[in-house]
Amino acid sequence: MTADSTLSVQTEGPWPVPVLPEGFSLGAATAAYQIEGGTRDGGRGPSGWDAFAALPGSILNGDTADVACDHYHRVPEDVALLKDLGVDAYRFSVAWPRIQPEGSGPANAAGLAFYDRLVDDLLAAGIAPMATLYHWDTPLPLEHSGGWLNRATAERFGEFAAVVGDALGDRIDKWVTVNEPATVTLNGYGLGIHAPGKELLFDALPAAHHQLLAHGLAVQALRAASVAGGIGITNVHSPVSPADPSSPADVLYAELFDAVHNRIFADPVLLGRYPQLPGELAGMLDALHAAPQTDLDVISEPLDFYGLNYYAPTRIAAGSGAESSPDGIAAAMAALPFRLADWPEYPTTGFGWPVAPEHFGTALEQMRDRYAGHLPPVYITENGASFPDEVADSGVVQDHRRVDFLARHLHSALEAVKPGGRAEGVDLRGWFAWSLMDNFEWAAGYSQRFGLVHVDFDTLVRTPKASYHWLRGLIRSRPRTP
Ligand code: FCB
Repeated sequence: MTADSTLSVQTEGPWPVPVLPEGFSLGAATAAYQIEGGTRDGGRGPSGWDAFAALPGSILNGDTADVACDHYHRVPEDVALLKDLGVDAYRFSVAWPRIQPEGSGPANAAGLAFYDRLVDDLLAAGIAPMATLYHWDTPLPLEHSGGWLNRATAERFGEFAAVVGDALGDRIDKWVTVNEPATVTLNGYGLGIHAPGKELLFDALPAAHHQLLAHGLAVQALRAASVAGGIGITNVHSPVSPADPSSPADVLYAELFDAVHNRIFADPVLLGRYPQLPGELAGMLDALHAAPQTDLDVISEPLDFYGLNYYAPTRIAAGSGAESSPDGIAAAMAALPFRLADWPEYPTTGFGWPVAPEHFGTALEQMRDRYAGHLPPVYITENGASFPDEVADSGVVQDHRRVDFLARHLHSALEAVKPGGRAEGVDLRGWFAWSLMDNFEWAAGYSQRFGLVHVDFDTLVRTPKASYHWLRGLIRSRPRTP
């Protein structure tokens, strides 16, 4: 189905119409491992996620990303969808195992050629390419030598950034070095529900430091390659609240979770230091405080922009409890003295995440309060929700809960940063919907649909949803700039 078949899609409703400042950029995002498939094509090497997905029980329903959306073979169709959507920018990621199958050494020409064509097709469609260098697909040989627990992986990543910078640096509009090092650290190395499946709890902290170091080395490598585009990092931010604000234990553990989810990733990048925790928690971040100042100097290289992903807030309660979601059962959490608490007052997405748009404003307010004066322009590099969408017999996908989610979240963010808003001072320049299309949602496999475009994973047919038409309408409603 083509994107122009609007059929009887309803795109107006009770949701607000976001008021877009002049020049505000609207885009859509994806990641290589989640959409490309073609895992054995063009000389691509295996990744840590391929190995993890092959382990029985690691991915819901035993799904794998071997085919995913087959984007590797369908670039023209997918770029046509983006062009018809009318986005200003498209955020994609470059698969490290396509470029360096061994995780080091010279570039694989076929791998580079794939992204070279993608970038040219985007530019021909009038879309600014935003390239993420690391969206979680570590080359397997590097995973085998310790992955992000090994400092050498950061050095290899700097070399990879140089290779891609040399090849695409004249045409990429914006570079994201590393995507959500928090999720890799917590889910991959701390709790074992993402690749590489390690349950190290607080012993996972070196993985955080090495990803941040990798980020800084990549910034230096891209600058040394004289790339034309701006450079930033993407962190996921989740405002954290204590389940019971009158409980000192809940308050203390909420502060700890805020540190390990948000602050240990943002503070070193923006302030050049790791956060200090109060009282009895002080020693928990010792592994990070042991880092030499020379590393922090690299990590805090000035950035052209800061990428912020927002999905949901977090509520923390004292007391242990394993966490269970479509992403897997985080049994290791039971060994911690705190747990994730529910938000009964909010509706939830398909993933079970609370729909709480006002907390998006809180995330931006925290950015202002914590980093004012050090915060470069901000782009929302991901924002979206999963719902169990279906294609109706009429051919329409009426995903009104997603339209409602996206409209309210974008509105909340723009209200927060406008003059007089509670996050005034944050220079918010743009927003990317997660995701252009339904895809392989990591440990949740194909069970969670986040797309503006529905993908039938049996036939790979793409069907734009109501949310696609809503965003298309919003983009077209903007006054034309001369
Ligand atoms: C983010 C990831 C992205 C996707 C969304 C739902 O944490 O960056 O790849 O999985 O969540």
